[in-house]
Amino acid sequence: MARSAESRKYDLVVLGATGYTGKLTAQSVAKNFPGDLKWAIAGRSKTKLQELAAELRGIRPDGSHPEIEIVDLEQTDQVDAVVQQTKVCISIVTYWRVGEIVVEACVKHKTDYVDAAGEPSHLKGWIEKYHEKAESEGTALIHASSMYSGPQDLLSWAAARELKRAFGADTKEVILTNTKLDPNPSGGTFEGMMVGTSKKQESKGPVAPPNPWIVSPIPGTAVHPQATGLLIREDPDLGLLSEYSMARLQNQAIVYRTWGLLQVANEGLGPNFQYNEYDSVGSKVEGFFKMLEFRIITTLLSNILTLRLLKLFMPAPGSGPDVRKTATHPIEMQALAIADGNDAQRATASFSFPSGSYHTTALFLSQAAASLLYSKSLEGGIKGGCLTPAILGEDFVQRIRAAGAVIEISSKQK
Ligand SMILES: NC(=O)c1ccc[n+]([C@@H]2O[C@H](COP(=O)([O-])OP(=O)(O)OC[C@H]3O[C@@H](n4cnc5c(N)ncnc54)[C@H](OP(=O)(O)O)[C@@H]3O)[C@@H](O)[C@H]2O)c1
Repeated sequence: MARSAESRKYDLVVLGATGYTGKLTAQSVAKNFPGDLKWAIAGRSKTKLQELAAELRGIRPDGSHPEIEIVDLEQTDQVDAVVQQTKVCISIVTYWRVGEIVVEACVKHKTDYVDAAGEPSHLKGWIEKYHEKAESEGTALIHASSMYSGPQDLLSWAAARELKRAFGADTKEVILTNTKLDPNPSGGTFEGMMVGTSKKQESKGPVAPPNPWIVSPIPGTAVHPQATGLLIREDPDLGLLSEYSMARLQNQAIVYRTWGLLQVANEGLGPNFQYNEYDSVGSKVEGFFKMLEFRIITTLLSNILTLRLLKLFMPAPGSGPDVRKTATHPIEMQALAIADGNDAQRATASFSFPSGSYHTTALFLSQAAASLLYSKSLEGGIKGGCLTPAILGEDFVQRIRAAGAVIEISSKQK
């Protein structure tokens, strides 16, 4: 049950509302939430917050207008003061610098929480520190509710659940394909990449291979690579698939956390569950160029000197891709779940949203907050802890749809 009976001044606070993604998130709240919402936009700059509040009033003059809360995240008393006054907090701040302060305050004050933080090694630290307390006290922290890795996680769960519903089958594999993506980063995202790269370069030891279950409460079975050559795979339903998909490892780690949480809760998707992500390509030649592009980008991103050069051409923190242009870059992806023991039994879940990646992040942050505030019906009887978007389950699917995205779910026996 949501903590609706508890009296707190606000239903929702958006912390980091003055940032590039924060503004889009506040706009999404103003546009889609009920008119009686009690909410606030919070940040350290009064001027920026006042400008945003004026803009939000224009979006829905008859809607609920937010109050303004001044919070410097380096001052824990200020963070405590605002977090303890709200039922749900969306945090869309610079995570690597000040993100944990908000997580800690939300756990301390039993405030449900949503973020877009998806970097697995970063999340691992938070899970180790806060999961147990949040779980035992029923405080839900929904992480990675963003373009990376919200839709991927939700679709994987929805396809696997459909397979169970239609055939009573466990899932052997979810294949996720990105058919349309908009990878241009905001200044805040690029700054986070620079920090990640310089940390890796500082830790001079040998680089360990990525552990797909780094944030799962239990390990899964071994992943068997299926692609060969140009790392192109062919599926009868999905066509040609290139393994050179930018965020596949992060998304895989988040999906495996969902899988692990549900296995532990006895509502598992199957003991042999695998998640593999690809970008759709029209031909092997396109796959070859995809590989070249991926190699060039990852080489550039793995060196702090080239990143410093790239920074000259990137948006500064607080800004990002032109929102009018991104509004014409739709996001589309599809998850295909294949039954364990019967390849002919298949279920799909697809997602499309017309307005680009950062609007998708705003949608996932705001609707995850709505799900916690108005329903809080978590999958697997889970009550709290460091969780993933899919743990919000069917309620989240319905809310994402109602806010303008298309999610289609179906199954077939070939
Ligand atoms: N996983 C995904 O798909 C995804 C998608 C989008 C964003 N993200 C992540 O989300 C974060 C935000 O991204 P963004 O592009 O929106 O960044 P941004 O524009 O730089 O915004 C950062 C926000 O944090 C606030 N902030 C930073 N330090 C603060 C402090 N000491 N006190 C109060 N507020 C503080 C900033 O306030 P000021 O305005 O006062 O500077 C601003 O509101 C980044 O870490 C990014 O990597 C992830």
